[in-house]
Amino acid sequence: MSNKSLNSRASFSGKLGYVLATAGSAVGLGNIWRFPYLAAKYGGGIFLLVYVILAITFGYSLMTSETALGRKSKKSPVGAFHHFSSSKSASFGGWINAIIPMIICPYYCVIGGWVLRYLAGYVAGGVDRLAGKNYFSNFIGNAASVEGWFLVFSICTLAVILFGVQNGVERASKIMMPVLIILAIIIAIYSMTRPGAAAGVKYLLVPDFSRFSWMTVVSAMGQMFYSLSIAMGILYTYGSYMKKDVSIEKSTFEVECFDTLVAVLAGLMIIPAVFAFSGADAAKNLQTGPSLMFVTMPKIFQSMGIGTVIGIAFFLLVFFAALTSSVSLAESCVSTVQDECHISRKKSTFIVGALMLLLGSLSSFGFNILSGVRIFGMDFLDFFDFLSNSIMMPIAAIATCVLVLRTVTLDSVAEEVTSCGEKFHNRKVYNFVMKYLAIAFLGIILISSVLNVLGVIHM
Ligand code: TRP
Repeated sequence: MSNKSLNSRASFSGKLGYVLATAGSAVGLGNIWRFPYLAAKYGGGIFLLVYVILAITFGYSLMTSETALGRKSKKSPVGAFHHFSSSKSASFGGWINAIIPMIICPYYCVIGGWVLRYLAGYVAGGVDRLAGKNYFSNFIGNAASVEGWFLVFSICTLAVILFGVQNGVERASKIMMPVLIILAIIIAIYSMTRPGAAAGVKYLLVPDFSRFSWMTVVSAMGQMFYSLSIAMGILYTYGSYMKKDVSIEKSTFEVECFDTLVAVLAGLMIIPAVFAFSGADAAKNLQTGPSLMFVTMPKIFQSMGIGTVIGIAFFLLVFFAALTSSVSLAESCVSTVQDECHISRKKSTFIVGALMLLLGSLSSFGFNILSGVRIFGMDFLDFFDFLSNSIMMPIAAIATCVLVLRTVTLDSVAEEVTSCGEKFHNRKVYNFVMKYLAIAFLGIILISSVLNVLGVIHM
């Protein structure tokens, strides 16, 4: 969206415009980088199953609520909560939704920097070097290098916002996104047909109930928030740009399906390759965590013979997917600061930039100079990821549920959903989830995350 449209609250051209914009913000590093490593770590098929169940119940209900509240109030989260209720707790609810992107955006840019580093590596023709055994750990162990690439990515993000070229980026990503998907399909097919890869396909697609743990649910829930951009105010803002005659239900469903498909596709690229390329070490390598994509993909590319071309194409497309998401995250921070502090867009971009520099540098240095510093046993990047996804997002989601139940009422959400002239097909599911399940379940997730981190329980 351009700056002008953000200020004058223009609207998306129609359903397609809304779905494309929302899917563009939803599909990003969450699908390509985060989903595969979590699925690998937390049980494969069982993680996927839990994820899908959560997405069609909770994810669906929360997305519908946020979009409807945004469209009803025509405001972003802080304003929307205020619009419906002037109580202190409502203003807390608005703020926590608005602060989450400020925690996520800096470390998102750190990962974006890793993507750029690999892109540059392939451009320089380093197919074999990038696939080397310790390439990734040497890279993140080098403070200047990680920080440098983080800065380059952050500057790209802020430049897009400052020079108001979102439109250009969005237009480009409309072309890039389909290309990314086609390339991902090709790579996934290649990866699945390597000798030994079938075990990986089975691992991701067939649920093995013996691998189920409470941590599977907690991490799948966090991933669902992250990947669908729920519980951080984004959908309020997008809802507020949505025209009345667009079906909230249908577009929410389309965004969810698309987002999940991209995640599964990324999983099919990466997880079978882990089995094919690491043989006996497969079980250990599935536990790799955030570096999984960066360690596995170069091995696939090296074995392809045309690794330079594919490597450049892949990381360029991931870079674009990441940039559209980081711009939309940063945009949400900038507009909140701008509106709430009553300052110019430029000033608020600089404030957000300074905050990103501070928090992002902590994440970058957490792997090298500051590697001795552990917060509840986590490095900074992991900590920010945990804080936002497992602690703050459940609180933000509870705030939305309370607002819907106490103040707005389920009927009035239904009214908003049906204002397009269509029936609210899943109204029963929606009401049931909101009334009986959401708050209790979110509360349990929140409490168990906290107890786990404090070492009271082990999940
Ligand atoms: N959903 C995005 C992804 O999968 C990440 C993200 C989280 C995001 N919150 C956002 C993107 C807000 C844009 C706006 O990578």
